[in-house]
Amino acid sequence: MAIRLDKFLAELGVGTRSEVKKYIKAGLVTVDGVPAKKPEQKVEEREAKVCCRGRELTYAAYEYYLFHKPAGCVSATQDKVHKTVMDYLTDTLRKDLFPVGRLDIDTEGLLLITNDGALAHELLSPEKHVAKTYYAKVKGRVTEEDALLFQNGVDIGEEKLTRPAKLVILHEGDLSEVELTITEGRFHQVKRMFEAVGKQVVYLKRLSMGPLTLTEELLPGEYRPLTAREIEALKRHSAEPF
Ligand code: URA
Repeated sequence: MAIRLDKFLAELGVGTRSEVKKYIKAGLVTVDGVPAKKPEQKVEEREAKVCCRGRELTYAAYEYYLFHKPAGCVSATQDKVHKTVMDYLTDTLRKDLFPVGRLDIDTEGLLLITNDGALAHELLSPEKHVAKTYYAKVKGRVTEEDALLFQNGVDIGEEKLTRPAKLVILHEGDLSEVELTITEGRFHQVKRMFEAVGKQVVYLKRLSMGPLTLTEELLPGEYRPLTAREIEALKRHSAEPF
C-alpha cells in the first residue's frame, strides 16, 4: 500500500508529523536513494527503501512484543507517578504500541505489547475466553476444596459467578503455591477469587496467555519480539469461535 512519506516516518517513531516534515524539507530523508522534498510524497510501505539521516527504516504495519513485566510499573502507556511498561521498550521507535490488557502494579509476568488494535480487541473480548495462567503465592492453606469451588465458579461481588477456573496446588502450607488458569479478565480477578475463599494473594505472576508462554530466559524488565509462529498462533487463537 502506498502511504504518505510523513505518515510513514511518524508511524515508525522518527518524530512527530511536524518534525518529520522538517526533516524532509531539510533533505535528510531519501526514498530509493533520491532526496525527498515533499511530505505528501507517496511511498510503497513494503517496498520503498527509505532512509533518514542515512539510517534505513523498515516498515512493519504491526509490531508484537512479549514483555516480562516486573513489579512496580503500571500497564499503561503514560502515567504521572509510576514507570509504565512502555518505558522498558527502548529499542523500538514506534509511538503507537500499547499493552494488551492489564496486570496490577505488583503483578509480574507475561504482557503482550503491540499496535495491532484489532488483535488486541479479539484477545480481550469477554466472548473469546482466552486462557491465562498465573502462578501465585497465597497466604493460607489452599486445598482441593478451593479447587472445587473455583471449578464451579465463585462470587467475587459481581452479578455473575466467575467462569470455571482450574486450580493446581503446587504446595499446600501456611504459604501455599498454586497455578490458576482463568478464562476471563475481570478487575483484580485472581486476588478477588482467593479473597472469596478467605485467602490472600501475596505474589502473582502471569505465566501464559493463550498460546504465548513466558520462558525463563526472559528476565523481569526484558522483552523480545514475538516469532512469526507465535504471531500466527495468536491470530489463529483469537479468530477461533468459542
Ligand atoms: N488478577 C489479579 O488479581 N491481578 C492481576 O494483575 C491479574 C489478574
